[in-house]
Amino acid sequence: MVSNPDTQQSIDRDYFLCCLSDLEDLQTIELTIADRQLFAIRQDNQLFAYWNSCPHMGVPLNWRPERFLDLDRTFLQCSSHGALFQIHDGECVAGPCVSDHLTVISLKAEGDHYFISANQPLPAPLINLRAAAMRDLD
Ligand code: FES
Repeated sequence: MVSNPDTQQSIDRDYFLCCLSDLEDLQTIELTIADRQLFAIRQDNQLFAYWNSCPHMGVPLNWRPERFLDLDRTFLQCSSHGALFQIHDGECVAGPCVSDHLTVISLKAEGDHYFISANQPLPAPLINLRAAAMRDLD
């Protein structure tokens, strides 16, 4: 059965993400499930995954594919207003949403293969600010 992404509430099955060995340290990978974007980043032989939605305004963090880090490659950074998030837990440590968190995605590993686990809630669809602004002009 094919799910309708507009009404789907949770992840319907496990989704293969990547092999940890495919990524270098601090390399990110993106994936879309039910029209929601997520990303994962490798740090110190661990993989951390988050929905690609800034808690400040609900927009994607990155403006270029697979580019999520600040210039020092220490924090995840939102390209809209510069919020900085810790890689290991998604907590915002600087910017307009300090102490808010990126939404963590549960992963499961089978050896080197990592999967997005089924049965976790899907976030609200991303806000398309450009489309909203165009609607406001109508
Ligand atoms: S939308 Fe991310 S810091 Fe404002």
